[in-house]
Amino acid sequence: MKIFLDTANVDEIKKMCELGIVDGVTTNPTLVSKEKGKFKNLSELIGTICDVVKGPVSAEAISDDANGIVAEAEKFSKISNYVVVKVAMTTEGLKAVKILSKKGIKTNMTLIFSANQALLAAKAGANYVSPFIGRIDDTGHEGMQVIEDIQKIFSNYAFNTEIIVASIRHPLHVLEAAKIGADISTIPFNVLDKMLKHPLTDIGINKFKADFEKVKDAYKI
Ligand code: G3P
Repeated sequence: MKIFLDTANVDEIKKMCELGIVDGVTTNPTLVSKEKGKFKNLSELIGTICDVVKGPVSAEAISDDANGIVAEAEKFSKISNYVVVKVAMTTEGLKAVKILSKKGIKTNMTLIFSANQALLAAKAGANYVSPFIGRIDDTGHEGMQVIEDIQKIFSNYAFNTEIIVASIRHPLHVLEAAKIGADISTIPFNVLDKMLKHPLTDIGINKFKADFEKVKDAYKI
């Protein structure tokens, strides 16, 4: 499973990229709004993230109409070859994805809450779909079931569109996504940080250190 970081914070991205486990990044308007004042403009922020990640970086278009989305996507795509344009799942968004796929601009259809929406996004030529599983769980329905349904549909018809499990809230979401063989999980920094820690690891390290301390003079490397 590919791991994307779901953040626009460059410090967080640098920290996790140093570990060698990050394949890409997803941003959205809420995430970029948190970085206001740190960069000259959105292009500089997205360009900096692309330079760090050297993998797919999603930047979201905010226009409501297809022409506006396409115009934004063309600007985003000039920033870096790593840019993937996030387009919201609407009628105009679908039109825009079709146009962008013909132009060779990569797209990630976002705000997906049903398998049927994902099917339409794939038909339009989206490179990625982003079902928001945490927000589906919030409504009392099973987000991961939507991922399984999309996997089945994409496999039935051999779509190349990759599924990004998005709106991940905790490590169990990542575990479930990996168990069902999801293509990609986009994970917030705090969730990824929790995944690499375990209290028994810390207890184990401290015990090993204490035991070795008692005999270290006799056991020089
Ligand atoms: O990138 C979009 C998505 O991951 C949003 O997550 O937690 O705001 O539902 P959340």
